[in-house]
Amino acid sequence: MTTPLEREIATYTAANPKSAELHERATEFMPGGDTRGSIFWDPFPLYITDGNSSVITDADGNKRLDFISNMTTLILGHRPPEVTSALKEQIEHGLSYSAPSPPVVRWAKLMCDRVPSLDKVRFVNTGTEATINAIRAARAFTGKRKLVKCEGAYHGNHDAIQISVIPPLDQAGDAESPQAVAAFPGISDTAVDDIFIIPYNNIVAAEKIIREHADELAAVIVEPVNGQCGMIPGKPEFLEGLRRLTDELGIVLIFDEVIAFRIAYGGAQDYYGITPDLTCFGKVVGGGMPVGAFGGREDIMSMWDPSNGGATVQHAGTFNGNPMTAAAGIATLEALTPDRYEYLERLGGLLRQELRALFAELEVPMGVTGIASLFALQFTAEEVIDYRTYRTNDMDMLNTMFIGLQNEGFLISSRCGGSVSTVHTEDDIHAFVTAVKNVLKRAGYS
Ligand SMILES: Cc1ncc(COP(=O)(O)O)c(C=O)c1O
Repeated sequence: MTTPLEREIATYTAANPKSAELHERATEFMPGGDTRGSIFWDPFPLYITDGNSSVITDADGNKRLDFISNMTTLILGHRPPEVTSALKEQIEHGLSYSAPSPPVVRWAKLMCDRVPSLDKVRFVNTGTEATINAIRAARAFTGKRKLVKCEGAYHGNHDAIQISVIPPLDQAGDAESPQAVAAFPGISDTAVDDIFIIPYNNIVAAEKIIREHADELAAVIVEPVNGQCGMIPGKPEFLEGLRRLTDELGIVLIFDEVIAFRIAYGGAQDYYGITPDLTCFGKVVGGGMPVGAFGGREDIMSMWDPSNGGATVQHAGTFNGNPMTAAAGIATLEALTPDRYEYLERLGGLLRQELRALFAELEVPMGVTGIASLFALQFTAEEVIDYRTYRTNDMDMLNTMFIGLQNEGFLISSRCGGSVSTVHTEDDIHAFVTAVKNVLKRAGYS
């Protein structure tokens, strides 16, 4: 007797021989064939040869509708004409220089004009660097060392924050006062000692922990929408509570909007009407090129100011603010007018509504989380609001859906998260929901 997952994998393997072959080759040169953990999956990942609008093509010539768009990055779809022509124009003038170039000024202005809390901004090449720098700034500014982060939140690949990302439940401690658990071996013990973990969306438990350690705390870092556990929207009272507490106790509040920036014209802080001290960005703001950015309050950001005798905090980076990324970022931000956010919000709402109707019709114990253009499938009857409720997911079903949707001609993330972009249509949404239905039927729900 084969399981639904085994059957989906058999179909997948048969349909993607060239990707299998490429993966086999890749294992000769990269450990496990992989150079980016979030795009590895069993039995082997697809190798993509082309992306155009909402469609990606793999090495076997299979076409799929892309509902994850490089982990929520490509908000205008693949190869939007305004971005490719900006990049082509910049290519004619050079890729990077050992001096600033005019586009970075325009890019910085665009960011500061649209994001309410940004007095000043700096650019880097990844979201990881953005959180490294924001945390460093908070420590330098407050003279304190310790941090608070939420259980089940990913803020990039560095020691300070690779803690309690997906902690094993038998090590994670009490739900209301979680243990700090290093994400994997190699994380320094001091990083673990320097952090306190709060449950997402539980302001009562969070307040207790923050007040208890306030004297040592440099920063509270939080995603307004938790990406990893399924695009879970922060409850307004949770995010507002963190703002109130950090204000009162002299702690820097950092919003990680690497994913959540895409929910509104001025980012998640604009959507929620909450002003953090510092914000981290990535993904969308670079228009598909490698990017990160961090910015916020004038008095904190001025620590990076190299004029007048030198910066308090150093910040170099060969490719920071390079003109290629700036060109793509500017073209993307300028294309993202308020009406496009309305469209994305409507499409995201339609998708969540149709999925909920489907789960009710099939009486399947599933849900959907998300906000605006972000969504995730949840394979549990529980309402998912934090890490512990996320962990009630049936992972076998999740993997079956992930592979099954690829067999149906759709790509989402291997955690079954997704995003809609401006090139998606209502018909694409209906087709996606039908594909989910087909996978569920093959798994025995009808
Ligand atoms: C919320 C959040 N913060 C930070 C990062 C790190 O960004 P990058 O992968 O560009 O280093 C990610 C990446 O997915 C993220 O989702």
